[in-house]
Amino acid sequence: MAEKISVLISEDEVDKRIAQLAEQLSNEYEGKVVHFIGVLKGSVFFMCELAKKMTVPVTMDFMSVSSYGNGTTSSGIVKLIKDLDESIEGREVILIEDIMDSGRTLSYLVKILKERKPASFKVVTLLDKPERRVVEIEPDLTGFVIPDRFVVGYGLDCAQKYRNLPYIGVIAE
Ligand code: IMP
Ligand code: MG
Repeated sequence: MAEKISVLISEDEVDKRIAQLAEQLSNEYEGKVVHFIGVLKGSVFFMCELAKKMTVPVTMDFMSVSSYGNGTTSSGIVKLIKDLDESIEGREVILIEDIMDSGRTLSYLVKILKERKPASFKVVTLLDKPERRVVEIEPDLTGFVIPDRFVVGYGLDCAQKYRNLPYIGVIAE
């Protein structure tokens, strides 16, 4: 079945905003090595673009959690599927998220990662849907605040499809 996707945030807008975020973070972490932690699979595209534009050295690791089934509604349960390969103790950690929705995934990750004693810890998300929050938690840096719509592209999927779209889109109803 062919669904119609309309553009919410264009490729050009996303790229420009990521360049701004990279500049801001590079200034903040001047003289340091930052350790990006990506949450698979959604944050991969954002993480790579951001890393490419950083002017300080960046190391990377990945985790995988699940909070959603294959559809568009939250199960409310966060499960750790893949843990980090390396220790984060004493490192300048930046957790990279694709989107913050209820905040459940992030609050779970922040809790377990802060216990591992990083030197510093920040959360950067490409998208934020603050209207949907059920857990009180805010990212340190956000690409775009968006309305309560289910979005796809730039890493975000609907039943594993559309991650490869170079823009942020919404599936037309
Ligand atoms: P939270 O735990 O409810 O904040 O959910 C965060 C995760 O749900 C994200 O990392 C995404 O994987 C997924 N998610 C939330 N909203 C959307 C959306 O609009 N499109 C695609 N995935 C979404
Ligand atoms: Mg995610």
